[in-house]
Amino acid sequence: MFYPDEIIQEVRAQNDIVDVVGSYVPLRMRGGRHWGLCPFHQENTPSFTVNNDTQFFHCFGCGAGGNVLTFVMRIEHMDFVDALKLLADRIHFILPQPGNSHAQQQKHRERSLTAEYNKQAARFFYDNLQADTPEAEAARKYLENRGVSPKMQALFGLGLAPPGWDGLLKHLTANNRDTTLIELHNAGLLARSHNNEKRFYDRFRGRLMFPIIAPDKRVVGFGGRIMDNESDEAKYLNSPETSLFSKSSQLYALNLARRARAKELVIVEGYMDVLALYNAGITNAVGVLGTALTTRHVQILRRAGCETALLLLDSDTAGTNAAQKSVPLLLEGGLRVKVLQVPDAKDPDEFLQKFGKERLGTLLRNAKGHTAFQLQLAQQPFDMEKTDDRIRYTQEAAALLAPLNSEIETDAYVQEIAHTTQIAPSAIFAEIKKQREKNQQNGDFSHVTPRRRVQRTNDPGLRDAKKALLCTVLSHPIAAAALQNFLLAEEMGDAVLSQLLAFAYDFATQNEHQESNKSPPAPPDIVSRFKTAEEQQQAFDVFSKPIAYSSVSEMEKSLNEMYQIIKRAHLDTQIETDGAKNDLNAVNIALNTKKTLQNQYISLANG
Ligand code: UTP
Ligand code: MN
Repeated sequence: MFYPDEIIQEVRAQNDIVDVVGSYVPLRMRGGRHWGLCPFHQENTPSFTVNNDTQFFHCFGCGAGGNVLTFVMRIEHMDFVDALKLLADRIHFILPQPGNSHAQQQKHRERSLTAEYNKQAARFFYDNLQADTPEAEAARKYLENRGVSPKMQALFGLGLAPPGWDGLLKHLTANNRDTTLIELHNAGLLARSHNNEKRFYDRFRGRLMFPIIAPDKRVVGFGGRIMDNESDEAKYLNSPETSLFSKSSQLYALNLARRARAKELVIVEGYMDVLALYNAGITNAVGVLGTALTTRHVQILRRAGCETALLLLDSDTAGTNAAQKSVPLLLEGGLRVKVLQVPDAKDPDEFLQKFGKERLGTLLRNAKGHTAFQLQLAQQPFDMEKTDDRIRYTQEAAALLAPLNSEIETDAYVQEIAHTTQIAPSAIFAEIKKQREKNQQNGDFSHVTPRRRVQRTNDPGLRDAKKALLCTVLSHPIAAAALQNFLLAEEMGDAVLSQLLAFAYDFATQNEHQESNKSPPAPPDIVSRFKTAEEQQQAFDVFSKPIAYSSVSEMEKSLNEMYQIIKRAHLDTQIETDGAKNDLNAVNIALNTKKTLQNQYISLANG
């Protein structure tokens, strides 16, 4: 599906890049730009900027840049059309419908039906828990025993699924005449018999129900807990994957945590942990639903305004492993990470029961950063009495510290390691330096401040000349019109750059013929003519260092300089390839052109 450029421009222009980026990345205003931690590479000090005037984002650390569409494509891992749709939705802009496909309509219907049935089911379970029946009373008793007050039950919308096979089934079909059992099955509320395809029954039976509610207030799924720990059924049963629910992209209680508007979110493993924390006044907690943390989760956290994730996982090795795996994902997502495992209790819920909220509060306030956690883990297998072990631990520790780009932070940890290992800080620093050099060879520059960054291409002069030339002709049609007779678009030697030059020529020609003086398209709109994030990045690079000329003659001089460099490089490549093909005729033509090159002069005065 291709949308006309005008539509793309409209959606782009109405989505202010500062607002959009700001909803993913916390930004601070400094020196006329907004700054934040780059979501596209790992860093501890902000080098990511968003510019209100140019409507571009640009990271001075990793070089990532582009317009609002590029940003959404990259952060949401979306293609161009989906990013455009997301941005159109955001401003309630109706995109022209390419005959909304049947499959799409079907999916949309299924999602809204699922949301509706889930809502009715949640209501049913809730009423059932509050009912005046022996089983409801037993369930409420169970909850009270675990410290879940009636107020908490209402806040979290907890419920009880009746023990029979068709309590919910009957309720929902009686409520909704047209409802089919297939629809309820698709919503994840009914299970289907293995022996008899036509037989459906309640998926959740005799369980305490935890509705999973998305920030948009839709009930997307459920978790259900058995109340008899002796039972051989699984302790928790979650909704299956449905059109609305996926374990890997849902966080329990995010709807409530978002209300806290906290920059730090506490991530726990269990439903009951979230409830216990909430009860203790810690309202910024979310639960992962019995699965490993995913990049989707990280995106969701960021979108919720989270800057720091505090991993408060179970105190067993599974919890430690989960923390270890989650840390890099969270860091890659641009979040600060702290890790805490409660001592002398298997999980936060149990810790609160045993030691109370004051002690947990103290632990949370003193939670260590991820580096400290990783260092502590790294140290475990080693015996600090043994020289060999001290050496090996120091090497591992140096590898962990190498990516840090704060010297102060590095120094603080080096002091600690020196203390533990009795190895001189200078030796540890030397080891870190060695690690950094090794990482750099592997293309990891995370610790390097932008200014020291090495150029990646072998010919920066040529690359800069191309960028500057394009930047000039794209904003000055007179320069494009004059250049047109000298340089072919293909001679830029690169698909994106050639398209940009062709575009500048087209615009200049149109402008000439219409004799109108339309101003050239805005750079961010030129960027969205490209449909992949990589191409957009390349197009953005052209505009990343804007050039201002104080006079036409200055522009003319500079245009000629850039032209000479680019044309010469083009001819050299030509000579090389033609030579390789043994096409001597072509080689001669190119050689002759090269000879006359220095006599050529592009004039803007009579252009
Ligand atoms: P836990 O076993 O730690 O449970 O599982 P919990 O939350 O502490 O529950 P209580 O205190 O025993 O009531 C952590 C999470 O793993 C998922 C659930 O999301 C649970 O909250 N899980 C656990 C399942 O999905 N299925 C299971 O059978 C067990
Ligand atoms: Mn527990």
